[in-house]
Amino acid sequence: MTDAGLYPSYVDLDPFIDTARLRSLDGYITERLERRLAEDLAFYTGPFLLDGTAPHLPGSKLVYLSRSSEPENYYDVDRTDLWRPSEEAGEFAELMAFIDTLPFKAKGRMIIMYDREGSAVSAHRDHDSVDLCHEFVWFRTNLDKPFYMLNPHSGEKLYVHSHAAWFDTVNQYHGGDATGALSFSIRVDGIFTDEFRSRIPFPAANRASAPALWAERQAAEA
Ligand SMILES: [Fe+2]
Repeated sequence: MTDAGLYPSYVDLDPFIDTARLRSLDGYITERLERRLAEDLAFYTGPFLLDGTAPHLPGSKLVYLSRSSEPENYYDVDRTDLWRPSEEAGEFAELMAFIDTLPFKAKGRMIIMYDREGSAVSAHRDHDSVDLCHEFVWFRTNLDKPFYMLNPHSGEKLYVHSHAAWFDTVNQYHGGDATGALSFSIRVDGIFTDEFRSRIPFPAANRASAPALWAERQAAEA
């Protein structure tokens, strides 16, 4: 771990995306996720419940908008040659069209993370390889779910106030508070365009800290 970079922090990517278009997808995505939830519910309980006690239904789910040709491996999220749009991508065609406007020259894993109950997401790191910097855009159509970055040394939390963000997933933690209602966010991994990359202060060591260095630079300029 390094002292360089700002923690907790995130890079606000709203200036680089069409937030009005993103917000306009809120109902479109919600409707489709609710339809999937209704199908999942039927799958988990069957049509005949013995009594009124519903079984525990897993809350947190993923919709894969792209699929890898290789077995599941977290370190493949940015191996863009492996990933192809999934069947579900057709169901979320308007979201896919929005994703095409993001600053990527190639895209890898694309997922919708959703939770029917809006449960809390425990603070976590995504991996522990400090030399690995995943280029991704995390985004959401509404600001309902409290989502935060956490400095593991100080315990300080910083809530994300933007629709879209890029953040250090290795040298700090991130998590979410409960909302009690359907919540979702989307993450697209890939390779940023050269133009977008030229803005990023990639460090020689601890490359995972690049978003924290960028956030530090932005804070200094503000
Ligand atoms: Fe995560």
